[in-house]
Amino acid sequence: MTANELRKKYLEFFKEKEHAIIPSASVVPENDPTVLFTTAGMHPLVPYLMGEKHPLGKRLANSQKCIRTGDIDDVGDNRHLTFFEMLGNWSLGDYFKREAIEWSWEFMTDSKWLGLDPKRIYITVFAGDGEAGISRDDDSIGIWKEQYEKVGIEAGVCELDRKAEKNSRIFLLGKEDNFWGPAGETGPCGPCSEMFYDVRPDEGELIGTHDEMVKSFRLMEIWNDVFMEFNKTSAGSYEKMAQQNVDTGMGLERTITVMSGKENVFDTDLFLPIIQKIEELSGKKYADEENKKPMRIIADHIKAAVFIIADGVEPSNVQRGYVLRRLIRRAVRQGHLLGINENFTAEIAKVVQRMYGEIYLEIADDKILRILEEEENKFRKTLENGLDKIEKYLNNPEKNIIFRKVGDQAQEAPVFFYSDAADLVFDLYQTNGFPFEMSLEELKKRAISIGVSFDEGRLKKEFDERLEKHQELSRTASAGMFKGGLADAKEKTTQLHTAAHLMLAGLRKVLGDHIHQKGSNINGERIRFDFSHPDKMTEEQKKAVEEYVNAALKENAEVIMEEMTPDEAREAGAEGAFEHKYGDMVKVYEIPGFSKEICGGPHVKNTSEIKGVFRITKEESSSAGVRRIKAVVAE
Ligand code: SER
Repeated sequence: MTANELRKKYLEFFKEKEHAIIPSASVVPENDPTVLFTTAGMHPLVPYLMGEKHPLGKRLANSQKCIRTGDIDDVGDNRHLTFFEMLGNWSLGDYFKREAIEWSWEFMTDSKWLGLDPKRIYITVFAGDGEAGISRDDDSIGIWKEQYEKVGIEAGVCELDRKAEKNSRIFLLGKEDNFWGPAGETGPCGPCSEMFYDVRPDEGELIGTHDEMVKSFRLMEIWNDVFMEFNKTSAGSYEKMAQQNVDTGMGLERTITVMSGKENVFDTDLFLPIIQKIEELSGKKYADEENKKPMRIIADHIKAAVFIIADGVEPSNVQRGYVLRRLIRRAVRQGHLLGINENFTAEIAKVVQRMYGEIYLEIADDKILRILEEEENKFRKTLENGLDKIEKYLNNPEKNIIFRKVGDQAQEAPVFFYSDAADLVFDLYQTNGFPFEMSLEELKKRAISIGVSFDEGRLKKEFDERLEKHQELSRTASAGMFKGGLADAKEKTTQLHTAAHLMLAGLRKVLGDHIHQKGSNINGERIRFDFSHPDKMTEEQKKAVEEYVNAALKENAEVIMEEMTPDEAREAGAEGAFEHKYGDMVKVYEIPGFSKEICGGPHVKNTSEIKGVFRITKEESSSAGVRRIKAVVAE
């Protein structure tokens, strides 16, 4: 079976089960700036999982383009990828565990569909979590047992962290593994049940814990059924949702791998044509062990880059553009290791376009080739400049003296190290984007040419120290978001929350006391804020509000919290929605001289923690008598 056939079969199967087939959403999420890319099929469907009505009904299925960069350093092993397709079926408050599991089983094992061998299928189920107050998923265990019974297998349950026994089929796992979501910080989530396939059945019975068998690559995860019954709130608790959903995700790449009897996603028709092209361009063989990793990285990264560019992103130094830039540059660097010194990424992209162009029409655009070509040119310039700088550094007569002295010592393997080499290497990396590994190679080459050994470990250590220090200094949202960065997003959200208080106070000062908050939505990137006001704001008014907020930011003003009764708060002049019912006690956050407001928090302790300049980026009508502002605090 080819990957194209698998994709088709999946959609056909769920069409038969009365699912509407929906197109893949963009890899750039439309309404969720807390994440850079669409990381799972459920991501674009969050509003519907939360209860909004989907125009095509309660049963949906599709194949979604996904980008995940959290595992970027693992790309090159047998299964990690930055771009992948997720086949998914959803129930929006319609069917639940029974149908989801029965259909998963039918699609996997029925010879009309995938015809996988049931004896090679293993399942994981949520073991429960006392802290989150969610119990073990006994319903799923029961339903899975029934499926195995249909084919005469008695499925044993393997408890959390225990080694597999002879009849173990269903493994209980904790929250880390078997509780999915939310995709951002808050939102729909729930226990999940994952399906694994034994790719090396000839090894006999399973030995060890489930985790060990996944790490040894014997069990390959292919499908995840998530039972989304909870909403994680910003306070961190799990609330049962009115609507019980199913979100499943079957990895196309992994499933086609096991279908083709392989252990490795790169040995399938989703990668081999790309790898052949790389062989052709480099004149090297994929079969040679040392070429495998670089070729896999290039294949994965350029494929991801093609899809990211197709959805409107261009290389840059921030956020999505930065991820794209890194993917392209990492690929070029791997090309360099394979001895490809001419531009090649556009050639690879053409293969990707041929492979996927009929399914994802947006990638057939020539603009993609042009952007890759430009970025590759830029990076090659960077490389040239970097090499020049290293050459100059090494040719500095002063360094040469030190160098020769060390080299001349009558040691067997004199160790060569310039104390400021790490400064140079870090500077090249930081300001020019010149890869650390290339600097290292150059210094090593030079050391070898004059017969001394080079202290690689020390350079790496000193480089890492500098990097760490730098990262601590500039933990910007964008840099943080590359690795998931939820902690950073949270921090920034808190800052923006306090800024929103200042903004409301500013609006009241500039526009008048009729201004009250009508709604707000804050995330790590921006404030969205609705307030009562009949007219469009003038430029002067916006500027005055900005000045009000920025003055408070410059003031290093303390943010003071006090608890009191709602009446006391009103008397104290705190802004609040008094028409709402408050509890017996409320929290009042005050920024003396600037703002006083009833609020649950959290807030920064001092306005100096709010990094950047406050700016209103948009002011528009939201509904009758209500205006909407979008604002940021940024450099
Ligand atoms: N959201 C789940 C996952 O990504 C299932 O689609 O694994």
